[in-house]
Amino acid sequence: MSGPLVVDIHTHVYPPAYIDMLRARKKVPYIHDPSDGGPPRLIILASDDDSNTPVDQRGRPVDSSYSDIKVKLDFMNKHGIDCSVISLANPWLDFIGEEQASEWAQKINDDLESTCAQSNSTAAPSARLRRLFAFGTLPLGAPSPAAIADELHRIKTLPHLRGVIMGTTGRGQGLDDPSLDPVWKALEDTQLMLFLHPHYGLPDEAFGGPEIVRRYGHVLPLALGFPLETTIAVTRMYLSGVFDRFPRLQILLAHSGGTLPFLAGRIESCIAHERTFKVNGGNVQGPQRGIWDVLKTNIYLDAVVYGTAGMKAAVEASGGTTDRLLFGTDHPFFPPLTEEDEKWASVVTNYSAIDKSFEQNADAIAGVLGGNAIRLLKLV
Ligand code: URA
Ligand code: ZN
Repeated sequence: MSGPLVVDIHTHVYPPAYIDMLRARKKVPYIHDPSDGGPPRLIILASDDDSNTPVDQRGRPVDSSYSDIKVKLDFMNKHGIDCSVISLANPWLDFIGEEQASEWAQKINDDLESTCAQSNSTAAPSARLRRLFAFGTLPLGAPSPAAIADELHRIKTLPHLRGVIMGTTGRGQGLDDPSLDPVWKALEDTQLMLFLHPHYGLPDEAFGGPEIVRRYGHVLPLALGFPLETTIAVTRMYLSGVFDRFPRLQILLAHSGGTLPFLAGRIESCIAHERTFKVNGGNVQGPQRGIWDVLKTNIYLDAVVYGTAGMKAAVEASGGTTDRLLFGTDHPFFPPLTEEDEKWASVVTNYSAIDKSFEQNADAIAGVLGGNAIRLLKLV
């Protein structure tokens, strides 16, 4: 096979043990098996668990594509993807209490490691890259941040793990929480990539209330809630000086940074006009490093943005380079629209947005599709 190597850095799994755990639960997040024998339902977003909707119809159907790695490999073959960096899907371990958080994180991370090792050892001789790597998961509910840092150092020793995925709430107080400093320090020390991904969206009131959210299904939470959630989370990190204290952090933002590329100038201007922030009753300086510097030094963006306008904003915010942009699919979310579809519309749309955005520049396309991921995540 010729053509650029393709690496999917945004692709999720729920390992079978995690699926079993969701199935045993009755509140969000949970899996419900309808009484009529229909496909199980995955109810993970707060807006999914709407008491006005019969439980058999809540959330979305969940099939083997969420947990069976063979289905992931078939999907990769169908879409010309050489290698995937798999990550646990939302809401990760955010809801696991402090007694079990570390145990679950170790279980998931060991499971990811062995899944990758096994798939790579049985890959066809014609494979151009190892087929699977992974982003691990963190025990954010653990009683002390030291336990989270310990798991990061353990992840660093697992041969197929190249970073960690994390939601926007951190230890429950957001990403400007000073108690996360040991976690940022461990990320810097290990130089593992942090893949920051949304889950909670915005409160229904932001969209006009629960009835409006229900009317339009997943559109408002996923199209707008998710990207704004990511933007708010990373902006709070920036405002609180995390990037001043930890200038070597490497963070991959889901969905091309939400709206950060578009809003970075506005964030910069508002900070300049605010001058100082009020913290614990006193006035403190705002961030010392400029937002554009952080975007060019600490931030990477996935190319899961479904259009040329978003793609070009991502490049512009990265300092005019395509070197910080990485292809992804968000598999197994956004499945085909009809059973006859050969390829997934969500994937085809992202491939074509990359082609159209950089059509005169084969090197840029090759970088975004796989070269950047291979270099940054050391996949060879
Ligand atoms: N919906 C989700 O819940 N998670 C994703 O990653 C994408 C869509
Ligand atoms: Zn995702």
